[in-house]
Amino acid sequence: MCGIVGYIGHRDAYPIVIKGLKRLEYRGYDSAGIALFDGNTLEVTKTKGKVADLERVALQKNSMKGSIGIGHTRWATHGVPNDVNSHPHYSNSGNLVIIHNGIIENYEPLKKELIARGYTFHSDTDTEVLINLIEDVQVNENISLEKAVQIALNQAIGAYAIAVFDKRVDGEVVVARLGSPLAIGVGENEFFIASDASPFIEYTSSAIYLEDGEMATISLQKEICVSKIKDGALVDPYIQKLQINLEQIEKGGFDHFMLKEIYEQPHAINDTFRGRLLPNEGVIKMAGIDDNIDKFLNAKRIIIVACGTSWHAGLVAEYIFEEFARIPVEVEYASEFRYRNPIINKDDILIAISQSGETADTMAAIKLAKQRGAFVFGVCNVVGSSISRETHAGAYTHAGPEIGVASTKAFTTQITVLALIALRLAKQKGSIDNSQYHYLLHEMEQMPSKVTETLEQNDLIEQIAEVYKDYSDCLYLGRGFNFPVALEGALKLKEISYIHAEGYPAAEMKHGPIALIDENMPVVVIATKKGHYEKVVSNIQEIKSRKGKVIGIVTKGDTSIKAIADHVIEIPETLEPFTPLLTTIPLQLFSYHIAVKLGKNVDQPRNLAKSVTVE
Ligand code: M6R
Repeated sequence: MCGIVGYIGHRDAYPIVIKGLKRLEYRGYDSAGIALFDGNTLEVTKTKGKVADLERVALQKNSMKGSIGIGHTRWATHGVPNDVNSHPHYSNSGNLVIIHNGIIENYEPLKKELIARGYTFHSDTDTEVLINLIEDVQVNENISLEKAVQIALNQAIGAYAIAVFDKRVDGEVVVARLGSPLAIGVGENEFFIASDASPFIEYTSSAIYLEDGEMATISLQKEICVSKIKDGALVDPYIQKLQINLEQIEKGGFDHFMLKEIYEQPHAINDTFRGRLLPNEGVIKMAGIDDNIDKFLNAKRIIIVACGTSWHAGLVAEYIFEEFARIPVEVEYASEFRYRNPIINKDDILIAISQSGETADTMAAIKLAKQRGAFVFGVCNVVGSSISRETHAGAYTHAGPEIGVASTKAFTTQITVLALIALRLAKQKGSIDNSQYHYLLHEMEQMPSKVTETLEQNDLIEQIAEVYKDYSDCLYLGRGFNFPVALEGALKLKEISYIHAEGYPAAEMKHGPIALIDENMPVVVIATKKGHYEKVVSNIQEIKSRKGKVIGIVTKGDTSIKAIADHVIEIPETLEPFTPLLTTIPLQLFSYHIAVKLGKNVDQPRNLAKSVTVE
């Protein structure tokens, strides 16, 4: 939800900020803007559209100079995406300028007060209210920008990561965060500001991640001063060494990040295993579980909360946990859980799953569960993310940066981590016997190479996509471990191709969706050998006798479904609980190829953003 970038130092800020915005475009891409200051002139350029559009507008201006710059790529919340609502926003005097990721929830009463005091507003945004509130405090109390930001933020309710500067104070930018991420890159006499570290990794590997409720004054004269927004108390900044490199955030020869990330899955799953899955020793090592093993063994119930694709991974985990570890599991949409007064007991464990580690609803669910005494465990991809810090313990997926808005490798690595946890607990509880445990560990180790084998179906899947690209609807059916994969397949198609798709448990078809079936309805059926196979074959017969088109995702060597389906895509044989790691691959590729053939923007689908940091 919006990306922010800033630079303060000795170089030209413009190219650094523009390149940084491009890297953060996954966070929002309906408008973009930049403010540059060269010590004399403050120049703001902004436009509806993408960062490339901003560059075109900037080119016409021919005055993009300054060694202080802040830029923004927007996912609109308050006010439609247009030039005026784009960030940065000025204060009324024209002295202060701000970029903001988040929402100021009480902007309306604040705006009314400011209007009563003579302020005027040009945009519909909450951000313009915030910058004028800061100005109002600064003018009335005759204080520094830093102090004015602190006081103003104490009046604001909501979420924010902001960067503000005052053109009368050269060489200083004030930043703050609450609920939205903000990293400060620390170089030699230069500083970078960004929603994540990707905009500055080629300049520095040292970064400060502000904690929620912290602000910092970044000054070329005085370096960095971090303090608490609440009371101004000074905080010792912790400078971290970054773990990502440039290669990881570039496309590496692929046309799209999504395709690159689909193909990275064998490698990503191996990274998830690294140091944890040790089949020859018969061991799964996971510090977050090992250190809290009693809590897990005594848990009466596991509640999984997540959103979107991460929620689908949670559903797969429900089946896997109950199969192996025999612990009751409930899976909840974080957005529902947080608002429905859920019953949470002290011996419940809440597992929060989030690729970004920033999803607002998931974060709120975590805070609620903590308040009510539950132990909270996080499964996140982004190291150091807000959720990974808010949870009592956790396990990273180690999938590497996922930039395509449609989650792919995050999903399979989340399932991998959760399966490892289930098996680790099953062993400790004795709910599976030793030989079964060893067999499972060895089979699991095979999954990266089986994913690679599944990826070899790509050309066939592209041909099938050509056949179905112009259909307006698609059904996805699966059972058991693969019911959540059907949901995930439908979500992938919807979000990047804008084709209407629905996922259903295969057996539910006859309770309603079967009415939709005719020659215009393609149905993707996940029908692996051990997953209630005969029953799913009957479902396929039912579809065929109503002229539906069937694309079967089948186990290698299956001949029965081949005889009745319109197309089959084979996956290698594995144990049924592990099949989601394979069956999901053709569905990712199918939606990818359809979207490409329809000319859609695969990596940045309309209306979406990678991290949903607003409600
Ligand atoms: O970062 P998170 O895993 O918490 O994100 C949750 C969802 O917003 C995310 O999975 C979303 O559904 C993806 N666009 C799906 O591809």
